[in-house]
Order: sequence, then C-alpha cells, then structure tokens
Amino acid sequence: MRVEADTDAVAAHVAERLHQALEQAAVLGLATGRTMEPVYAALLQRLKALPPQQLALLLGRWRSFNLDEYVGLAKDHPQSFASFMQRQLAGPLQLPGGCLQIPDGCAADPEAEARRYSAAVIAAGGIDLQLLGLGSNGHVGFNEPPCSASESCRCLGLSPATREQNAAAFEGDPAAVPERAITLGTSEILAARRVLLVVTGTAKAQILRRALQEPPCPEVPASWLQRHPQLEVVVDQAAAAALKFS
Ligand code: GLP
Repeated sequence: MRVEADTDAVAAHVAERLHQALEQAAVLGLATGRTMEPVYAALLQRLKALPPQQLALLLGRWRSFNLDEYVGLAKDHPQSFASFMQRQLAGPLQLPGGCLQIPDGCAADPEAEARRYSAAVIAAGGIDLQLLGLGSNGHVGFNEPPCSASESCRCLGLSPATREQNAAAFEGDPAAVPERAITLGTSEILAARRVLLVVTGTAKAQILRRALQEPPCPEVPASWLQRHPQLEVVVDQAAAAALKFS
C-alpha cells in the first residue's frame, strides 16, 4: 500500500511503474476512467522526454489489452473507451494500430467477441501488469456486484449505480450510458502476474476500505484482489481516509 499526498503524486508513481513495465516489454492491462487521466498524462510526459530512438523501441513493442468497452458504441464514438484511449495515449504517442487492444463494442455477437478477446489475452501470454481503477460500487473493469472470483470475459448489464457514476461523460444523463458492456472477468484480472490498483478521492474512501479491509465477498468485486499475491495499491490521502492502519 502506498499513500501519496495527492492525485499528481499518485499519477507520477503509477506512470513510473508503467514505464518500467514497458521497458521490460510487459503485456499491459489498461483501464479507463477519470482516475487514469492524470496517470496517462504523466506517462505521456515521461515517454515524450525520452530520446527518440529509445521511445521508438519502447513503442514498437507495446502490447496492451484494455479491460472493457461499452456495447453499442463504435470505436470512433467520442464516449467509447476506444476513443478515450486514442485521446489519452494512442494518438499522442502515434502507437501503431493493433498494439493497443480493446474489445469491439460493435461486434455483431458481443458474447463471441468476449470469448475472442479472452483468447487473445491468453495467446499474448497473459497480462504482466494489470492497471485497475475502482468503481464506486466496488466493481473492477465492469465486473458488477455480485460477482465471484472466477468470472470470465463476458458481456453483461451495467447497474444503475455504474450508469450514474459514468453519466458525467454522457452530458450527465445516466440514461445515455449504454446498458451493457464487455469486460475482462475477475478470473483474467486475478491471473495477471501483477496488479496495480489506483484509487483517488474522498468519494472512494469507504468502498476502498470495504475492498481491502473486509473479508472478500461477491458484493464488492474488488475485494477478490486481496487474494492476489502481487497486488500493489496506490492511493491518495483522500481515498485512504477510511483505512485502518495498525
Ligand atoms: C469505470 C470503468 C472502470 C474504472 C471505474 C472507475 O466504469 N469500467 O474500469 O476503473 O469505472 O472510474 P473513475 O476512475 O472514473 O472513477
């Protein structure tokens, strides 16, 4: 557990971790959401400061899999997670097409797309470093509660709480948030060699405490992360406010 003073310090630390992983040619598991915006900005800053040849080498072997995507939103829809990644990383870094993977929200058969995506992760040798945010209802990726520790990549319905949480990106209208998504499951997330959970802000303090300091349970999907042998948690002081330290 690492408690940083604020979101900037969290972002700087996580960006350093991601940079190290890229240098090791790791397969990254990437996340979206507001928590990740300063993280990706800090990563961009680090990478753009590299000598051009070093940067080209690093980008040339970039392999990443995003956690999730809304069903029904095309890659170029401004609110799709594909667009988010394009804005935050792929565009500014001019990443070669295909190295940053994400489920296809417009696949004709979303269940088949989820199976294809899971198989693609396995074919890449699995995820070396999985970056995770925390949903305000305890979800990771879009693994909505209740959720066991052994769910696979799948298409599922989003809860009213999650559509409310993500409404800001849809002009504040929860009804405009897609009803379904494709997400890597808890099984793929727990199979990652290392997991980096990043949580910031007072609004996440209580759910973070439940995720980390209460017995794991389906009602808080993130709580299964307690079973991961290589979990690193990076939070700011606001998110850490409800944690009990011995
Ligand atoms: C979203 C994503 C998650 C993300 C979480 C937190 O719905 N599916 O991957 O980590 O909710 O989002 P935010 O960082 O905006 O609070």
